[in-house]
This record gives sequence, C-alpha cells and structure tokens, in this order.
Amino acid sequence: MEIRRFKPEDAEEISYLISTTLREINVKDYPLRIIENVERKHLPSKLIEKSKYRDVFVAEESGEILGTISVEGDVVFSVFIKSNYQRKGIGRKMIEYIENNTKDKGIKTLRVSSSTTSFEFYKKLGYRKIKSCTHKLYGETILMSKTI
Ligand SMILES: CC(C)(COP(=O)(O)OP(=O)(O)OC[C@H]1O[C@@H](n2cnc3c(N)ncnc32)[C@H](O)[C@@H]1OP(=O)(O)O)[C@@H](O)C(=O)NCCC(=O)NCCS
Repeated sequence: MEIRRFKPEDAEEISYLISTTLREINVKDYPLRIIENVERKHLPSKLIEKSKYRDVFVAEESGEILGTISVEGDVVFSVFIKSNYQRKGIGRKMIEYIENNTKDKGIKTLRVSSSTTSFEFYKKLGYRKIKSCTHKLYGETILMSKTI
C-alpha cells in the first residue's frame, strides 16, 4: 500500500468512498440528515477546492483507493477508510504519516474533531479528549488533540 498526494482525478472515487463509508458505518451513530450534510461537504468539486489549501492524501493499492486523510496546519480532517478495509491498520498508517509530515514542519500538537464513530480509534492512537461539541449541521463531535 502506498500513501500519496491527492490528484484532482481522484475526486470522484474519494467522494464515493466517503459517501459509502458514511452510509455503511457512520449511519449507526448519526441521523441521515447529518450523514447527508457531511456528504455534501465531500462532493468531488468540494474535494478539489479544499485540496488547494489542505494537504490531502490517499492510501492506494493496485490502483484502488482504500482511504483518505487531510491536514490543514495543525488540524486533521476527513479520515475515511473503505468499510471492507477497516481494522487492518490502514487508518493508523495514515495518521502516523500525517503526524510525521506535520512534525517535520515544526508543528507540535495535532487536533481533530472526531466523529463519535472514530473516537475509540483516535484514543488508541494517543489522542485525548478536550471537549464534546454539538454542531447544528454535523451533529456530535469530540475535539481531541495529541502532542506529536
Ligand atoms: C475510524 C477509521 C478511520 C479507523 O481506520 P481503520 O483503518 O479501521 O483503523 P486501524 O485498523 O488502523 O486501527 C488502529 C487501532 O484503532 C483501533 N480501532 C479502530 N477502530 C476502532 C473502533 N471503532 N473501536 C475501537 N477501536 C478501534 C484498532 O483496533 C487498532 O488498534 P490496534 O492497532 O491496537 O489493533 C475508520 O474506521 C473509518 O473510516 N471510520 C468511519 C469514518 C469516520 O468516522 N472517520 C472519522 C471522521 S473524523
């Protein structure tokens, strides 16, 4: 598996991956209204727009995108692993990749607004809860941080 930078031609595939993961996995924790709001943030055009100011990466194997992660400054965004590839260590590898990358830029702490679905994952990787937040559009999230 290779972690590489996002290219605009990945946008459709990643948008579909995120949408499918939301509807297969996150739907257990969030109402459909929230799922649809998050989905809209990850339309192909939005992904291309965001990649202009965020570092967006994908995990790829044999030409198939298995997951994605983004980082802007000291904030991690949009970590999604294809549901049938979850719990195989890909999410961990992507977070460690981002941590090393940002450390090299002199950033000492990373923050993430975790979904309730991914809270235990971030906890396992050393992220600590700062506070719970409730957003009108995006529902309950947990602000977490880690000194890297
Ligand atoms: C959360 C997510 C990114 C984790 O990716 P992943 O590739 O499945 O995670 P990994 O296999 O690398 O897991 C790393 C560690 O976290 C643990 N972990 C992962 N998901 C977990 C869960 N839901 N509950 C408890 N532990 C979990 C694993 O057991 C593993 O521990 P280990 O290394 O001691 O065995 C992935 O499940 C996902 O895409 N979820 C849905 C989308 C989402 O909510 N994204 C976050 C938006 S902020």
